[in-house]
Amino acid sequence: MSATPSLAEVVSDAIAAARGGVNVSMPATVLTYDPARQVASVKPSISMRYLDASGVLSPMSIGVVSNLPVLFPSGGGFSLTWDLVPGDQVLLVVCDRSLDEWKLTGAQENVPVDIRRFDFTDSVVVPSIRPITQPLAPDAWATGAAVLKSSDVRLGSSLAADFVALSSKVDAALAAIVNAFNAHTHMLGNTPTLVPSSLLPPAAPTGATSVKAI
Ligand SMILES: [Fe+2]
Repeated sequence: MSATPSLAEVVSDAIAAARGGVNVSMPATVLTYDPARQVASVKPSISMRYLDASGVLSPMSIGVVSNLPVLFPSGGGFSLTWDLVPGDQVLLVVCDRSLDEWKLTGAQENVPVDIRRFDFTDSVVVPSIRPITQPLAPDAWATGAAVLKSSDVRLGSSLAADFVALSSKVDAALAAIVNAFNAHTHMLGNTPTLVPSSLLPPAAPTGATSVKAI
């Protein structure tokens, strides 16, 4: 700005200065994650920039932000969660005002003691976001399908411990039973009887029509 700025320059600079203090959202990297509380500590991935005393535009790193709620889909007694590990990339969404009271009370209405606005401290974490150079692996997606990829999928509860049966194995086991029954004979003295007069039909396929698993 010149030594004798115009009104337009002054207004423009004032708007720019005000806008500079408004944080909205930003990618970040997970440093720690507490699965029991579903909160994370993260490091924002994009630096701020500022004009130093000599007028040079310099980078200013944003520090670690801790104790941020992670947005897993949940409600009505339902929930869907997955684990987060250090290095996972997420999106911070900055809330307008202090979340200090809401974090503690969860009340329907809270009056913030701290009047800060658009502060990264009041972010929530959306898992996840990925740079376009680091897409999910090919076995994590398929055109026309919803893919839930994990080496440990638990349905109904985190306490689920019994394994879901696979239809191909169930069908094979049933076919083996049917074949064994239909072929079995008894010994009558030294002579084998005929196979059963009433044979079992092949078992109907047991597979679901739209859900597949490995
Ligand atoms: Fe028999």
